[in-house]
Amino acid sequence: MFRIAHVSDLHVLSPAGTEWRRLVFNKRITGHANLLWQRGRVYRRGHLVAVLEEVAVGADHVVVTGDITNLSLESEYEAARELLDDLARRIEVTVVPGNHDIYLPATLRDRRFWHHFSSFLRSDLPQFACNLPAGRYPCVKLRGPAAIIALSSAVPRPPFFSVGLLGGEQIHAFAQLLAHPEVKQRTPVILVHHPPVDTRPALLRLRDGLVDAAPLREALDGLSRGLVLYGHTHVRVRCRMKTRNGSLDVVSASGAALDHPSHAVRAGFNRYDISDDGSIADPCCWVFGDGGGAFRPIELRPYCL
Ligand SMILES: [Fe+2]
Ligand SMILES: [Fe+2]
Repeated sequence: MFRIAHVSDLHVLSPAGTEWRRLVFNKRITGHANLLWQRGRVYRRGHLVAVLEEVAVGADHVVVTGDITNLSLESEYEAARELLDDLARRIEVTVVPGNHDIYLPATLRDRRFWHHFSSFLRSDLPQFACNLPAGRYPCVKLRGPAAIIALSSAVPRPPFFSVGLLGGEQIHAFAQLLAHPEVKQRTPVILVHHPPVDTRPALLRLRDGLVDAAPLREALDGLSRGLVLYGHTHVRVRCRMKTRNGSLDVVSASGAALDHPSHAVRAGFNRYDISDDGSIADPCCWVFGDGGGAFRPIELRPYCL
């Protein structure tokens, strides 16, 4: 049995606090305002530290589906790197970028995400990787019965927009990767920041959805089973996506630092067990206790598409 633990949307803040002078006339001010007011949710470092401490227990691999930093500041990257390096001393970690990690065109040009996190993205089949500004994707790790595949959907956008894009080149490479014998004989576990399935109105999808979700689902259509894991929405959701050969479990993790009364939102992590024969057990979520205490499991019932 191979156990994968899933966290997302760490939104690590600069330990020195936000430098407001650098935010003025900058897209980052909208991101910070969003963090403080729009979502009405509180980020607590204590929650994040507790989640990162607990997530490795009993697991074989941890995946992080983006928004690791909050405003792509170098100081945030350094703080996030420290947390993930500490985690990686206990367990193998794979990450994908979120829109907050590639916040501005300058962040992309600096290849800041790749500079800090490429050690978590060493592919076993590097010949399939496209050289994207956020790094080399798709990246695949062949581990026991699982093929863990990291995709990048993070691109900088104007203020108030956070739509994701995989791009034709990456989707084509991904489809070819899925056909590789080493991947085909395993259960695919696909990581992407933006939601691959999104039933919200078109206007909302245009604001912060995944532009090429449909071509991605087309590439997934030949699979008979697998997991597609994402973040971005800051809420735990699970759906069963039918394919022509079977179905996939599409599951999101909430923000790993969030303090919120709802169990669907509050800080925590998901766990997925894959048997040696490749079958996937029902995902389980572990949510941080109400009074800041122990984690407790909650069931995540799927809805079907
Ligand atoms: Fe986020
Ligand atoms: Fe996001």
